[in-house]
Amino acid sequence: MNAEPCTYVIFGATGNLSRIKLMPALYHLDVAGRLPEGTQILAIGRRPWDQQQWLTEVREMIESKIKTEFDEAVFQRFSQRLQYHRGDLQDPECYSGLAKTLGDKKFPKNIAFYLSISPSDFGPVMELLSNNQLFNEETGWRRVIIEKPFGYDLDSAQALQKRISHYLTEEQIYRIDHYLGKGMVQNVLVFRFANVMLEPLWNRNYIDHIQITHSEDFGIGSRGDYYDNSGALRDMLQSHLLQLLTLVTMEPPVSMEAHSLRDEKVKVLKSIRPIPKDAVHAYAFRGQYGPGVVNGEKVKGYLQEEKVPADSVTETYAAMKLYIDNWRWRGVPMYLRTGKRMAKAQSTISICFRHPPLQFFRDTEIHCMNQNWVLLGIQPEECIRIEMTVKEPGLEMATRTRSLDASFRNQGEKAIDAYEDLLLDVLRGDSSQFLRFDEVEYAWRIVDPILRTWAMERDFIPVYPAGSWGPEDNRLFEKEAQFWRSSLNPECK
Ligand code: BG6
Repeated sequence: MNAEPCTYVIFGATGNLSRIKLMPALYHLDVAGRLPEGTQILAIGRRPWDQQQWLTEVREMIESKIKTEFDEAVFQRFSQRLQYHRGDLQDPECYSGLAKTLGDKKFPKNIAFYLSISPSDFGPVMELLSNNQLFNEETGWRRVIIEKPFGYDLDSAQALQKRISHYLTEEQIYRIDHYLGKGMVQNVLVFRFANVMLEPLWNRNYIDHIQITHSEDFGIGSRGDYYDNSGALRDMLQSHLLQLLTLVTMEPPVSMEAHSLRDEKVKVLKSIRPIPKDAVHAYAFRGQYGPGVVNGEKVKGYLQEEKVPADSVTETYAAMKLYIDNWRWRGVPMYLRTGKRMAKAQSTISICFRHPPLQFFRDTEIHCMNQNWVLLGIQPEECIRIEMTVKEPGLEMATRTRSLDASFRNQGEKAIDAYEDLLLDVLRGDSSQFLRFDEVEYAWRIVDPILRTWAMERDFIPVYPAGSWGPEDNRLFEKEAQFWRSSLNPECK
């Protein structure tokens, strides 16, 4: 798919996301020669900066983030693309000024608006853009990239959708979930649908359960005001983890086109058994980190973090169990968990197969055989591993576990940041890795009963020590033999 020259208009360009992700990603795309000739990047910010100051800021953003050496010649080329438009989001004049600026012939007429702003501003900003005819597609396409969270719960997501659909069609809206831009996440579909070996086993007849873990060793940093209103369930589970679940469990799509792919993901979300209001605690639990030790360093607890109220019961850890009531998955539990300030930073999908029938080994030393696992390491280690049981050499009939490795990156092949991939997709008009509204809506439907129950329980939240694996609580597991898998190595599960 070819990318056409466009003007990237970035709202919130001086903010954190732009600093650590967007500007470095655009620079990398320029280094790789992937930004179409003539592409311009127009930053909107409130700070009283002139063009020179903006260039200095961007240089710093890039220098502090890139992994390769800073290339002065490329930066010179890149800086020709950079413009700064001073304006306040709330001020209608910002938008009339923007319309005037964009009229200049140096700006390509295809425009992508990136809203890296507070979710409460999505609606008002779009209204003002629309009032200034900035979504009018007479001269070129208009696309709007919206960061998560899309809404705060089901009702607010529906209200936001209703509002923005006055200004834009679904095809123009790119709801970003940066997990879909990660290399290993894209590899999940290739692993499943470009190989025939596993797909016949990928169902309730062979799979015991699936688990998805995203753990972080860092805390909430300076994001206390955002995080305390969000919590782990909204911040990670409703979005990134449910997306991962759809990719591992969906049916093969008719094609890789956006609508086919998204149709299949929605079918999974629609098939998830609703969590009964009166049984939320059997399906989900939460926790909050207290003080502890992470990577050998003493760290404070959540309640001592900046901008967090002293009596907050916001969860920094959430775990839940889901069932997909369809032909393929009925009865197979799906366990999802995420937490901050945990023992280790990693994202993994672990698929546990059923026990083989053991009769054959009767009267041997093999009385408890390990199950097979397929482990998909998303980050920091990117890998696909299949654990098999083999015989231990020697006279006894004993076994050990060996892991077959199908890692997708060769040594020296560098990782591409998810944002590079996704920003390029917007230029190409490829929305397959962005969320359609019904995906977001069904995801909210799944977590809404949990959110409502937790919102009423304001008195108490279990605390786990920073640096641990979260609350010690096994209530979700269906069988005694099930446990959270925290390692990609067979020796230490
Ligand atoms: C963001 C969440 O969407 O994803 C953060 O708001 C979280 O709280 C982050 O830390 C994790 O993303 P990544 O790419 O670092 O795993």
